[in-house]
Amino acid sequence: VTFLIPSHTARPSDDPIFALNTEARARRDAGQDVINATVGALLDDEGKLAVLGSVAQTLKEIPADVSARYAPLAGPPDFLRAVIDDLLGGRPEAAQALAVATPGGSGALRLAIANFLEHQQTLLTSSYYWGPYKTLADEADRHLSTFRMFGEDGRLDTADLGRKLHSVLEAQGRALVFLNSPCHNPTGYSFDNEEWDRVVDVILRESVRGKITVVIDVAYARYGATGLDGCLDRILPLAGKAMVLFAWSASKTFTEYGLRVGALVAVHPDPDVRRRVASALVFSCRGTWSNCNSGGLAAIARVMTDPELRARVASERGALKALLDRRVARWNELASAAKLSYPRYSGGFFTMVFCDDAFGVAERLKADGVFVVPQNGALRVALCSVAERDVPRLVESIAKQIAATSAG
Ligand SMILES: Cc1ncc(COP(=O)(O)O)c(C=O)c1O
Repeated sequence: VTFLIPSHTARPSDDPIFALNTEARARRDAGQDVINATVGALLDDEGKLAVLGSVAQTLKEIPADVSARYAPLAGPPDFLRAVIDDLLGGRPEAAQALAVATPGGSGALRLAIANFLEHQQTLLTSSYYWGPYKTLADEADRHLSTFRMFGEDGRLDTADLGRKLHSVLEAQGRALVFLNSPCHNPTGYSFDNEEWDRVVDVILRESVRGKITVVIDVAYARYGATGLDGCLDRILPLAGKAMVLFAWSASKTFTEYGLRVGALVAVHPDPDVRRRVASALVFSCRGTWSNCNSGGLAAIARVMTDPELRARVASERGALKALLDRRVARWNELASAAKLSYPRYSGGFFTMVFCDDAFGVAERLKADGVFVVPQNGALRVALCSVAERDVPRLVESIAKQIAATSAG
């Protein structure tokens, strides 16, 4: 009946978030006063995509022969050095790092799955996670399982991470763990230093049982309340005892979602291990997308290395972060007053409200002209796409519909 292989005949093509966004935009175009908190891109308070002008200008200035040619499979050396520098700055571990260019952070995650897990093995991440983690695993013929993200105290449940890591290692002798912080999507949660300490303890303890690869997904690193230092101070000493990887992305960092520029960074003290990892990763690049967007890599390398451009980017990004931080502050003020239940939120694109019947609540919110993304037990609220002036109406509608659900 079908030419598709049986396991692919029921693949859903529609992404529920994009479908909700389309519906919200259609309602807005029809003249309704809509709050669209579904989009995972930073919009200004007028609803337009926020773009760093200095990056957009740099892209335009890339010579035609640079954007037209094939980039090296691993990515241009100046780009790779700049990524390592962006992530690890002057740290000594920068000398123990390798990077491979990828189409966005998604490409980096895909490389990690394909090279650090066997087929049919299981990737481990937190119980709330960015949906494409599962898509990436499925597509690569791997499974995904989760540890409970929050304990009773509302903090990272590293005891459950330990339990799940233990059983994954018992079952398959190796583990791949995705951790997304700061500004976790969808919860908005950022691990604090004490939580990173506990993560590291768990990984060290379990590393006697098998090979552990940990991927820190730093897609939102530039929007966190504090930088990556607390995380790096703790995670980097693991290198060698575990494989330490970072999924780096230009999408949010440089507001260039469509450019498809990212990198997978691996840190390991042994040059021989690094050489073999680099070869495996580059082989994977060749076997999936070949090379990345040459003009994009050149532009992002330039904005990271040219001192004047770096300064302009930092100042423009600072303004965007301030815009987002004002929404976050307003949200925290109003949502806590309205007694919404949501995880600690100190910055980033999303927050998440816990509630029963999230799908029912989201449906009723639509009647109020408010669009959020429901999942089991929670609503994801993309503050990155909501104007500061709309935060009061957003909080009020969510509180009202959750109360109506509990009452009903
Ligand atoms: C948690 C998380 N990781 C990684 C990415 C990677 O995005 P991209 O492939 O556009 O760089 C995203 C994008 O939304 C994300 O939310």
